[in-house]
Amino acid sequence: MKILGLESSCDECAAALLEIGNWKLSAQGRPASGWEIRTNVIFSQEKLHRKYGGVVPEVAARRHVETIMPVIEKALKRDRPDLIAVTRGPGLITSLQVGLQTARALAYVWNVPLIGVNHLEAHLWSFLLNSKSQILNPKQIQNLKFKIQNLLPAVALIVSGGHTELILVKGAGKYKLIGQTRDDAAGEAFDKVAKMLELGYPGGPIISHFAEAGNPDRIKLPRPMIDSADFDFSFSGLKTAVKYLLAEITPTGSLSQAFINDVCAGFQQAAVEVLVSKTLKAVKKYKAKSLIIGGGVSANQKLISTFKSQLSKLGLDFYYPDKEFTGDNAAMIALAGFLNKKRASRKNWRNLTAEANLNIAV
Ligand code: KG4
Ligand code: ZN
Repeated sequence: MKILGLESSCDECAAALLEIGNWKLSAQGRPASGWEIRTNVIFSQEKLHRKYGGVVPEVAARRHVETIMPVIEKALKRDRPDLIAVTRGPGLITSLQVGLQTARALAYVWNVPLIGVNHLEAHLWSFLLNSKSQILNPKQIQNLKFKIQNLLPAVALIVSGGHTELILVKGAGKYKLIGQTRDDAAGEAFDKVAKMLELGYPGGPIISHFAEAGNPDRIKLPRPMIDSADFDFSFSGLKTAVKYLLAEITPTGSLSQAFINDVCAGFQQAAVEVLVSKTLKAVKKYKAKSLIIGGGVSANQKLISTFKSQLSKLGLDFYYPDKEFTGDNAAMIALAGFLNKKRASRKNWRNLTAEANLNIAV
């Protein structure tokens, strides 16, 4: 079975072809064959939005219109899929519409089933994708098909440029939203702090790079809502604290590299501490067997290493995506489409809609 995944919710225009093998068990009790990410094409608009220090929705949507067909052509190589999976939300509505309307048209002319995918659900399961071999080994396939139950219930932390959500995962498609940011998303705070420091866009990778050379304890920054009784987050106060710090210290003149490194290290430390502390509280409260993370910010090595050391103390499993699959991509959309394929239908081309605020808990 070949699944075409399409993603256009923000500033990445992506198409991927995922081929799923035969799920039947072989004589040795192993699946006879697995799956393969045949193609994983991503056209990033990063450069286009860099001069604005963030994504401009209208500019993004126009570029999606121009690039979606070439991206699909590159991914499909004239092949015809058996299923189309497309992001239907959450995201920028005009950007979402480009992928969704293209998917509807293709499903109609090819007469193939179509399924709408929640972008955050796709980030959640992206740890199952494997970039090293491109083909999951039998053990990993068993994890997916037969042992997924063993990691449940799980708590998932989805951290991206648009979202910071804590989700209780009871199964594929069975989710409860237990906490979220009340203002800025974690990735958005990285982006805005980088903009204040005039370091460029996207801010996450740049800040974590400079943070390596900095002292995280030299500049004290707040840890908003770290002790609140709920599982919500707030990153706007942390970002504003950096703003005031910069206004106080540098009314004139330029910042030294050592100071920039310390600000980056201090900010990253504060963001990671809040994310880890709140997530571990949720893991304990919901008696989760494992923690899953996904989304652009899950590329942050400080976040990964802090979770690793804390979770090993608790004896819990920790699942996070290969760096290649942390950001927006269409392989994860195809995979989420596969996991939910019961909802796919040949009739979906008629009325599938894009939802800017699509909720993961249905
Ligand atoms: O998931 P994603 O590619 O797009 C959205 O769905 O938003 O996430 C992009 C976000 C950006 O805010 C970017 O700065 C952040 O992920 N990011 C990072 C790192 N790499 C990307 N944040 C912190 N540390 C990183 N290494
Ligand atoms: Zn994303």
